[in-house]
Amino acid sequence: MSDDGGKEMTEVSLRGQRAIVTGASSGIGAATAKELAAAGASVLLTYHSSAEDAEAVADDARESGASVHVARADISDPADCAHLFEEADRFLGGLDILVANAGVQEDAAFTELSLEAWSKVIDVNLTGQFLCAQEAVRRFRQQGGSDASAALGKIIFTSSVHQAIPWAGHANYAAAKGGLKLLMQSMAQELSAERIRVNSVAPGAIKTDINKNAWQDEEAEEQLLKLIPYGRVGVPEDVARAILWLASDASDYVIGTTLFVDGGMMLFPAFRDGG
Ligand code: BGC
Repeated sequence: MSDDGGKEMTEVSLRGQRAIVTGASSGIGAATAKELAAAGASVLLTYHSSAEDAEAVADDARESGASVHVARADISDPADCAHLFEEADRFLGGLDILVANAGVQEDAAFTELSLEAWSKVIDVNLTGQFLCAQEAVRRFRQQGGSDASAALGKIIFTSSVHQAIPWAGHANYAAAKGGLKLLMQSMAQELSAERIRVNSVAPGAIKTDINKNAWQDEEAEEQLLKLIPYGRVGVPEDVARAILWLASDASDYVIGTTLFVDGGMMLFPAFRDGG
């Protein structure tokens, strides 16, 4: 009998698979790179600004014995993105999984939102995801699959609850994530007949640098918790485990889905006592 009271635990394995995780020098990307490596995948993790942070994540991920590499990329730049995938060919020798995670926020009230801040967020959070996904799909086709997975290839986008929830003061971010939702679904519709699985995770409030202001002091966290029925702010590992599942054959029949990882934020908790 196993030590979990007799219930057999099925281990989610990515043994023999090769993965790129973008935006992995911190937060959800960093936790995901470690999670995938621990499940047996070879991982190329990308960063934009801090090589030092990325190397530290890679060192942690290597503790599981996985082969882990680091590359710098501005995924919103087509040339950079193409170069990143060449690095992946070299380091990983193929690709089974893309976790298109890199994202930014540049917040401003609507009339104060500069074209620069608008474009930056759309360029990284939407166009960058598109560019990476295109490179990945081309590789999945060239390879023609492997014994390591039932699918030809898997793409997981990091979206947000704001693909569905409007967000005052963050119009650029919500527009990019809303666009990403239909990019993901359109790709899934177009590519699933080739056994390419495209899905998203949509995190709610997760403790990372991007939303530090919303949870770093007690008062802010108390306000934030009013939006989270489950009563705690999420941590990157909550999302990383969902990504691992979407990347694995355990979710082989899951296509074009957004998996919300949000402690119930999408349930409109403000309506519990009103409406
Ligand atoms: C944003 C965070 C925010 C969360 C919930 C995420 O997509 O990046 O800043 O806390 O959504 O509103």
